[in-house]
Amino acid sequence: MTRTDSRVTIHMAASLDGFIARKDGRVDWLETSDEFAGGDTMDPESVAAFLKTIDCYVMGSRTYETALSFEAKGFGWAYGGTPTFVLTRRELPRTRETVEFYSGDLTQFVNDRLRTKFRTIWFVGGGVVSGECLRLGLADEVRYSILPILIGDGIPFFEKLDRDVALHVAEVKAYKSGTVELRYQVRKVGVPNG
Ligand SMILES: NC(=O)c1ccc[n+]([C@@H]2O[C@H](COP(=O)([O-])OP(=O)(O)OC[C@H]3O[C@@H](n4cnc5c(N)ncnc54)[C@H](OP(=O)(O)O)[C@@H]3O)[C@@H](O)[C@H]2O)c1
Repeated sequence: MTRTDSRVTIHMAASLDGFIARKDGRVDWLETSDEFAGGDTMDPESVAAFLKTIDCYVMGSRTYETALSFEAKGFGWAYGGTPTFVLTRRELPRTRETVEFYSGDLTQFVNDRLRTKFRTIWFVGGGVVSGECLRLGLADEVRYSILPILIGDGIPFFEKLDRDVALHVAEVKAYKSGTVELRYQVRKVGVPNG
């Protein structure tokens, strides 16, 4: 049975002009040098405590390949020991036991496999997968971290949205690093602020 308290969140970092990576996939611009004096700080303990609340990650194959290349360069694996589901129709290297591949009906996968087992389900990109997740009406929440930079062109946060998606602003936070975090709830038709 589906857990009634399960939540699907889409989270990514983007440039102010709405791109999650350059056209060729580079994310070198994620390191910015801005400082916002009035902003909050992110202390490592609270970040670690927050990450513990995430029960599983879901990502597209291109995001997985980027994560593998980061790991190969010595930056580590960003998803710890948390179960990580990679959407792909290809054969990709499985580098750890926590990684599982899936290909097929995404609605069925989220509702029948993930929501029955996990409470906090995080879609971490990329643009193709987050667009698909919203189009299919699977997301409850969107977390958008805006970095203080414009990059002009790139891969958009949401690929191929074919309709409007009404949102409710739930939280706005600005950090010393200049990153602004926006949290929106996806409004379900007929449910006020729902
Ligand atoms: N700034 C950020 O926070 C952030 C976060 C995440 C990613 N990124 C960047 O975004 C880029 C990747 O984004 P992207 O939009 O190009 O690709 P993506 O969403 O990561 O991956 C798309 C791929 O996922 C697979 N896929 C999607 N839906 C599927 C389904 N229902 N069933 C099976 N497979 C499915 C397909 O791969 P196959 O061809 O393998 O079948 C598809 O080509 C990378 O450069 C990454 O670094 C940035």
